Amino acid sequence: MSERVPIALEVNGETVARTIEPRMSLADFLREELELTGTHLGCEMGVCGACLVLLNGKAVHACLMFAVQAHGERVETVEGLTERKAIADIQEAFHNNNALQCGFCTTGMLVTAHEMLSRGDILSREEIRDGLSGNYCRCTGYQAIVNSIETVAQARAVAGAAPSKPE
Ligand code: FES
Ligand code: FES
Repeated sequence: MSERVPIALEVNGETVARTIEPRMSLADFLREELELTGTHLGCEMGVCGACLVLLNGKAVHACLMFAVQAHGERVETVEGLTERKAIADIQEAFHNNNALQCGFCTTGMLVTAHEMLSRGDILSREEIRDGLSGNYCRCTGYQAIVNSIETVAQARAVAGAAPSKPE
């Protein structure tokens, strides 16, 4: 058995420190060590997008990273985005458009949508579909999800709201 190693990183604005197996994935670290179970594990191969989190503001697959690789870095999960209300309008749009059924893919979809919308561009449906190409949903079909993101993009543009920056 490999020797456990200490790591410290910022997760959702708080510094956390643990001693872990070096081969523990970031997704397992978030779920098992920190009980942040909004980060879902589907394929564990970087394909389905259920495990997406922000690493220093950029969406990454938490299933493909070792937790030790996040040592000293800044991670934000769907819980953190929810808490600081960065995705409140996206969540509301998903709700209003029935863009979720089992919800398994939803947290990853929200992280992707947040990253897309944070660029501040007016997104075409094609761009939204393209942006979602790494997120698999087995339930809804994608129409309602694309509708939701398009609705938020338009609402934010109309409101002239500054896009919330990924952090
Ligand atoms: S669980 Fe990470 S991409 Fe599927
Ligand atoms: S809502 Fe069930 S997998 Fe997407």
